[in-house]
Amino acid sequence: MSLLVPRFVTTAERPTPELLARAAHIAERCGLPLRRRNGSMRRTAGAAACYVVGKQREALWSPTASIFVHEGMTLARAADGLDHPLVRAVAPQGRASRIADGTLGLAQDALHLAMALDAEVLAAELSPVVFSLCEEGLPRLAHDSPVAEAAARITPRLGDSATVFAGEPDDSFDAVLVSPMFTQPDRAPVGYEAFRGAAVHEPLGEATVAEALRIAPRLVIKARAGEPVPPSLEGRRRQVLRGRALEYWVVEREGA
Ligand SMILES: C[S@@+](CC[C@H](N)C(=O)[O-])C[C@H]1O[C@@H](n2cnc3c(N)ncnc32)[C@H](O)[C@@H]1O
Repeated sequence: MSLLVPRFVTTAERPTPELLARAAHIAERCGLPLRRRNGSMRRTAGAAACYVVGKQREALWSPTASIFVHEGMTLARAADGLDHPLVRAVAPQGRASRIADGTLGLAQDALHLAMALDAEVLAAELSPVVFSLCEEGLPRLAHDSPVAEAAARITPRLGDSATVFAGEPDDSFDAVLVSPMFTQPDRAPVGYEAFRGAAVHEPLGEATVAEALRIAPRLVIKARAGEPVPPSLEGRRRQVLRGRALEYWVVEREGA
């Protein structure tokens, strides 16, 4: 699968001054040009991917999909309660009130954990494009959606997970989740190319592992079955919980 990197930022048709100001802010943050909207998105963007500041929501547009933050499968996943393997990995005793998420993405895991555990979630996202989607999308969901309370409990931060975690006190979280981009993109859903083009593809780094195990006694890594173990986890004892398609690797702080 090819990467469809976002090329510019644009707005809805006939933008208000507020919409234009928000688009200019995102363009600067992402280091992308701001392009005037020219009729339909097809006409404005052609085959390119771009960030659209719309009137109802913001999206990462490409010819195959419009990607934005939404409730997704949160209600269905949270209906499994404490039995869901992600929840069991993060909170084996069924309790966790403070969780850190080092790879926010489109906030699907953060919403799930916030809802299933009634937890506050501090979440880092390194891609300014993906962060901007969450910066707009989470308050929108918190204002009016079936996952409003969960969305309101998520605090997104723009930055590298290791740096964001470094600003937190020792033992201030019950668990940390990281869900790096999968190394084999071939099984990604249709329309996912633009997300892959905007996301940061880096294996889990040693600094993130060290900071995670300083701020929490447990680190959970979401991986696909067969995913290679990154060098940052080599030599660390790992417990593996298997879901239907995914695995959750649990690394505990030594002596925890
Ligand atoms: C597979 S996605 C996460 C999906 C997310 N768990 C969800 O439920 O939507 C990985 C995300 O982590 C981000 N990322 C990668 N490395 C990062 C880092 N070092 N710090 C913060 N975010 C990072 C990527 O840009 C991408 O958005």
